[in-house]
Amino acid sequence: MNDGSHTGGLSAKEIVEWSTRYTLFDWAAQSKISPIPVASAKGVYFYDPDGKRYLDFNSQLMSVNIGHGDRRVAEAVAKQVETLSYVNSAAMTTEVRALLGHKLAQLFPGDIEKSFFTLGGAEANENAIRIAKAVTGRHKILARYRSYHGATSGAITLTGDPRRWANEPGIPGVVHVLDFYHGTTRPMDSAAEALAALEETIELEGPKTIAAFIIEPVTGTNGILVPPDGYLEGVRELCDRHGILMIADEVMSGFGRTGRWFAVDHWGVVPDLITSAKGLTSSYVPLGAVGIRREVAAHFDDHPFAGGLTYNSHPVGLAAALATIRVYEEDGLVEHSAKMGEVMRRHHEELAARHPSVGGHRNIGLFGCLEIVRNRETGEPMAPFNSGSPEMAELSRFALDHGVFVNLHWNQVMTNPPLCITEAELAEGFEVLDQALEITDRAVTG
Ligand SMILES: Cc1ncc(COP(=O)(O)O)c(C=O)c1O
Repeated sequence: MNDGSHTGGLSAKEIVEWSTRYTLFDWAAQSKISPIPVASAKGVYFYDPDGKRYLDFNSQLMSVNIGHGDRRVAEAVAKQVETLSYVNSAAMTTEVRALLGHKLAQLFPGDIEKSFFTLGGAEANENAIRIAKAVTGRHKILARYRSYHGATSGAITLTGDPRRWANEPGIPGVVHVLDFYHGTTRPMDSAAEALAALEETIELEGPKTIAAFIIEPVTGTNGILVPPDGYLEGVRELCDRHGILMIADEVMSGFGRTGRWFAVDHWGVVPDLITSAKGLTSSYVPLGAVGIRREVAAHFDDHPFAGGLTYNSHPVGLAAALATIRVYEEDGLVEHSAKMGEVMRRHHEELAARHPSVGGHRNIGLFGCLEIVRNRETGEPMAPFNSGSPEMAELSRFALDHGVFVNLHWNQVMTNPPLCITEAELAEGFEVLDQALEITDRAVTG
């Protein structure tokens, strides 16, 4: 047995026991969790302390986009820690801040030119709505039901999915709207219908009270929902017409996940504010950012920005981001994501053809999911809304036992590997899923 001062040498069992006893895990009753102890990771694989290898089919939290253990990022981080690990972000600045600000102004869509740096996605969204309220002088924020925007008090109020419920009442002024998707059992609406519903909500709420509409351009955890053509363009037009700022939450969909740098790039839409985290540093170091359009940022030329963070522009995070962006560029990972997305689609199609429990599938780049159903005709999901099921749990356990980590969301199996994945590695993951789906096929009725 190790004492508390020990910094290594714990057994796999002790790692789990100590972690669950002394630390709190996210979103769960603590007695119900059984975390996988992880000792190291490289490329698309991670390893437990006993050396068992797992294919990371979810890039951890859809975030390790460049893959694990890239020396180029590790060295940049180590060098920054050694040279200058921290400065007061209000009174001082650094070369890495200048360089990353400049780089993001090139990468972000359109004239999004100025960045505010945070520690993660939720903080980025908090500051995006702070900026929108300050610039417009309005107080309401529209958000969508099928969304996740983070777990701080503003961000969890913006969140439309059931993770919000236990956190209510949240901040005032948030109004949720429906989008173009209504679950497995009903077909997608057209862009026109979804936009008409949005327009009606804007009218009923009073356009001049609404500061911003925040959306995930391609929805992440709530089902990899790819908007029909015309939807984002229509949102942009409605926002323009009513002086409402459009906030694109690209915390999950950004940095190559969809096969473009940002999801909005597929439709050529420029939001007023864009939020980012996860893929920005591929999670090597925590960092988030709010990108702000030139005209919106100009508001703060003469009005003080009423926000701040001790870790705004943390040099180590910024160095990780710069090195990560260099990796995307050097290795052509954004283009590779688009190409592998086509391969993923073929795998999805093959699984849907072979397995009656695959009721649907979606992907854009390497942002994908399979919808598992009990009955294809009725579309009844294999796990109900906001719940799991024994079959889904068994499917995930089978995949894990066979060395593939997949993330489940109710009746959905996420397929979101690191963007550096090869065709052979994709095939390896889908081969295991092919076997695992026999479990859910057995529960199919009708
Ligand atoms: C779309 C989206 N926005 C915001 C967040 C919150 O980011 P963070 O957990 O870094 O605060 C997430 C996290 O999953 C996300 O997927």
